[in-house]
Amino acid sequence: MEENLLADIERLRRERRAVILAHTYQPPEIQDLADFVDDSYGLSVKASQVADADIIVFCGVQFMAETAAILNPGRQVLMPDPEAGCPMADMITAEQLRQFKAEHPGALTVCYVNSTAEVKAESDICCTSSNAVKIVRSLGDAEVLFVPDQHLGRFVEKQLGRRLVLWDGFCPVHYALGPETIRKMKQRHPDAKVMVHPETRPETQDAADFILSTGQMLDLAKTTSHRKFLVGTEEGILHTLRKVAPHIEFIHTSEFLRCPTMKKTTLTNVKACLETGQTRITVPAEVAAKAKIAIDKMLQVSAAK
Ligand code: 13P
Ligand code: SF4
Repeated sequence: MEENLLADIERLRRERRAVILAHTYQPPEIQDLADFVDDSYGLSVKASQVADADIIVFCGVQFMAETAAILNPGRQVLMPDPEAGCPMADMITAEQLRQFKAEHPGALTVCYVNSTAEVKAESDICCTSSNAVKIVRSLGDAEVLFVPDQHLGRFVEKQLGRRLVLWDGFCPVHYALGPETIRKMKQRHPDAKVMVHPETRPETQDAADFILSTGQMLDLAKTTSHRKFLVGTEEGILHTLRKVAPHIEFIHTSEFLRCPTMKKTTLTNVKACLETGQTRITVPAEVAAKAKIAIDKMLQVSAAK
């Protein structure tokens, strides 16, 4: 059954000239068939660099597919399950952001890439979890509104030793990992190092050895001399980590670190998506143009030394 599905997907992706992108939180079988597996930002950039594809099948969540659509206006971006959203991205609307900005005249707005296209369009500059510190630093002493993730915002505050005005959004998946779980796991595995995502709570970050974005976790795995890690982020990345560093033992810190919407992609709906060309993710031109300014600014700052 799975073999038939894989053969059909193989045939259809060639016929449709499709490139398949998968986020590191996707199920293993989806990661294994993808052309590229990376963090959300890396995938969007890769999509814009693939010269001979008409269609991008984005296996991830809505805000990622929207970002790919904004950066690749000439291509169809499809999602196998368009209902796969990100609860954190939905914790601030464009109207709420306009109100927040009105309460802080003159402040600059930094939005985490985990946000809707409308919120990006209302922001001065975007950031990802790997470049948030650099992006905020580039703004000098200006008052900064940081949306929607309060925990990534607190991480930036700590790194830069300055205050930001934080929205109170958070990732319900990463919230589930508390410091007591890390302490218990460390007792069981005293020889392991602990890596967590900056979307975890500050007290959880304090109990870890490394606070890293998903892309930085993969980079560390490729270069580190440590041989055992406790991993404090979504379970899908364990598959990616084990593939890039098979000589390292990776242990998941908690079964609760599982993002339900990331698991909505299946071999069956990837095949259906290629067959039917559904569901296409589009962003209204005016919103896309404004959101692209915030994304492009992030790319510029991120690339600068
Ligand atoms: P990345 O931007 O690191 O891919 O992470 C996205 C995400 O949803 C983390 O929870
Ligand atoms: Fe959103 Fe959290 Fe899922 Fe990432 S893990 S997609 S932030 S709900």
